[in-house]
Amino acid sequence: MTDIDLDADDRTIVIHDEAGFAGMRAAGKLAAEVLDMLAPHVRPGVPTIELDRLAYEYVVSKGGVSATIFYRGYSHALCTSINHVICHGIPGPKPLQNGDILNIDVTVVLDGWHGDTSRMYLVGDVPLKARRLVDLTYEALMIGIEQAKPGNSVGDIGAAIQRHAEKHRLSVVRDFCGHGLGRRFHMAPNIVHAGRAGDGPELRPGMFFTIEPMLNLGRADAKILDDGWTAVTRDRSLSAQFEHSIGITEDGCEIFTLSPGGLHRPPYAG
Ligand code: MF3
Ligand code: CO
Ligand code: CO
Repeated sequence: MTDIDLDADDRTIVIHDEAGFAGMRAAGKLAAEVLDMLAPHVRPGVPTIELDRLAYEYVVSKGGVSATIFYRGYSHALCTSINHVICHGIPGPKPLQNGDILNIDVTVVLDGWHGDTSRMYLVGDVPLKARRLVDLTYEALMIGIEQAKPGNSVGDIGAAIQRHAEKHRLSVVRDFCGHGLGRRFHMAPNIVHAGRAGDGPELRPGMFFTIEPMLNLGRADAKILDDGWTAVTRDRSLSAQFEHSIGITEDGCEIFTLSPGGLHRPPYAG
């Protein structure tokens, strides 16, 4: 049933049909194309507001809409989270600096379906410690996705991500979670990135949700800046995040937001 979520409340886990998969495939591809398109533009000296403008124009040119403009008072097409910013960084005029690590998170709506994805980008020459954080965070996302299959639970995803992070002495942010999505941007189920195997709802074919772990070099604690959006690490340690939108299938899952250009993780150019 694809339309039930129009009436369901946010706690209902919607089971989608083949038309839902088709809708999410198209929306997810457009979101991933935005991140591909931006890769060559991420350079020292470029202001993040310029990346936001490029993303907005690209989405509109493909017949999509930004899901984040007008979302709870947000007014940009991207979240741009630099260095110790965990997530929800607001694009602005400050130029990117050599050595920065940047997360770009984009959510588009295409034909009523939401595609939500984020990746890390390296600005110029990035120190090894930061590149290692970025690599381990990508691995954590993919290890979480391996657990996304029928019969497993939401907790299996979180437990696998947490195990990988802590094995490498990284912390997992608890204040933000993955989320169900489809015709709505944020809905059930809540996808924790740390937890106990077997906990939470069981995964069933037709469930759509994001997995979007945020890993820190230091402590997990977060705080929100006075702008009401920007989440930063309290200890100002570096933070990284990757996000995919997926759908549970009969024997595993489909990743809706895979990079069409093969730009899965940095470095994106040789
Ligand atoms: N794309 C983010 C997520 O992964 C949400 C951004 S909401 C915004 O769920 F308003 F900050 F853009
Ligand atoms: Co999301
Ligand atoms: Co997102």
